Amino acid sequence: MPLSDRRPSTHVEDAEPGASGCHESASNETRPKTENNAPVDSGVDASSASEYDQENSGDHLLEAHNNADDDSFADEGYDGSDASSFLSSILSEVRRGVEIEGRTYASYGRHEYGMPMDEKELDRQDLQHHKYNLLLNDRFYVAPIPDEQLQESGSRVLDLGTGTGIWAMDMADKFPSAEIIGVDIAPTQPSFVPPNCIFEIDDVEDDWPYRPAHFDFVHGRDLMTAVRDWPRLIQQAYTHLKPGGWIQLASTIPGALTDDDTIPPNSGYVESGRVYFEIADKMGAPLDAPRSWAEQMREAGFTHVQDIVYKLPMGSWPRSKRLRTVGRLEQIMMLEGGFEAYMLRGYTQVLGGRPEELQVILALAKRELKDPNIHTYVQFHVTYGMKPQ
Ligand SMILES: C[S@@+](CC[C@H](N)C(=O)[O-])C[C@H]1O[C@@H](n2cnc3c(N)ncnc32)[C@H](O)[C@@H]1O
Repeated sequence: MPLSDRRPSTHVEDAEPGASGCHESASNETRPKTENNAPVDSGVDASSASEYDQENSGDHLLEAHNNADDDSFADEGYDGSDASSFLSSILSEVRRGVEIEGRTYASYGRHEYGMPMDEKELDRQDLQHHKYNLLLNDRFYVAPIPDEQLQESGSRVLDLGTGTGIWAMDMADKFPSAEIIGVDIAPTQPSFVPPNCIFEIDDVEDDWPYRPAHFDFVHGRDLMTAVRDWPRLIQQAYTHLKPGGWIQLASTIPGALTDDDTIPPNSGYVESGRVYFEIADKMGAPLDAPRSWAEQMREAGFTHVQDIVYKLPMGSWPRSKRLRTVGRLEQIMMLEGGFEAYMLRGYTQVLGGRPEELQVILALAKRELKDPNIHTYVQFHVTYGMKPQ
């Protein structure tokens, strides 16, 4: 669907027969409520399915609202007879997101995602894109996909958690005959995009609404805390790739390492990483997940699986000019709000801490990041595989 028509999960053109693509996993904020603001009790066993997530496939009975007079939609400012105002209210909620500690977060999606979606975050994502391209020697991906495969008309690329869509748009420019679809829970993509690039709002942890064997390339970068169930996501990618199609996942594991023992004892940077790992574990999205991708891809049936681990330096200490620039970009990114983007929501909402406490931990970490005598790096995993021909 064109971006200007973006709305939650309404990709129907390529949907499998019977799959509407209209997923029900909107956030609490978009759910109809009763007069006293409690969730509507539909009589569904709350331990197995929430009121909002009632099954509607196969033989499942669709249960009715238990109070026909309940005017809960009107309570929420929705006119029950006015579908378009109901829809536009939900759309505006998705676009607006939710405010937490001065940052804006996506309101759509099965789980709450830890990172913001405001302007500051979008600038950060675009900076990250340049940093990763440089880290990968000016490549958008490293999977050995023959160029011809993506140059053919009818080829399709899916970018999971596309963010600002910058990777998807660069790929659309590079491969004008391919169709590039970027999908995200947050409506943070621009309106003016290459004609072969489209964006959709959807949760990649839900069932994908595409035909099997539909894509030539499924790509996902920087999806830390975005995905809980990687084996399922990888299996879905396998199903929806054409034979001979490729998957590539890439992410940093944010634990500080050094090759020359320059990390000080009681390092604030190491401590900040430990806290971030704790947050992610509690969210059910462990940060070391990339270490398991290769095995999970093989289990799903992928061949030619490779897990390449790049050293991503922090600061301008490396000898190589390219890596010095990468390190400088990483340093700027973290000092100019990266720490807070990664950790603020989790620290306050998952660990129950106060923003001021987080700033105390981060103050020491930030001081270390500026010290040219401390030579840290993190690991950036790029893992790819091919669906057999
Ligand atoms: C750190 S950004 C990375 C953006 C992009 N992949 C890049 O590398 O430039 C992660 C993105 O994943 C999105 N996201 C998080 N959970 C998601 C989910 N379950 N389904 C779809 N997108 C999700 C976020 O909204 C955010 O835009």
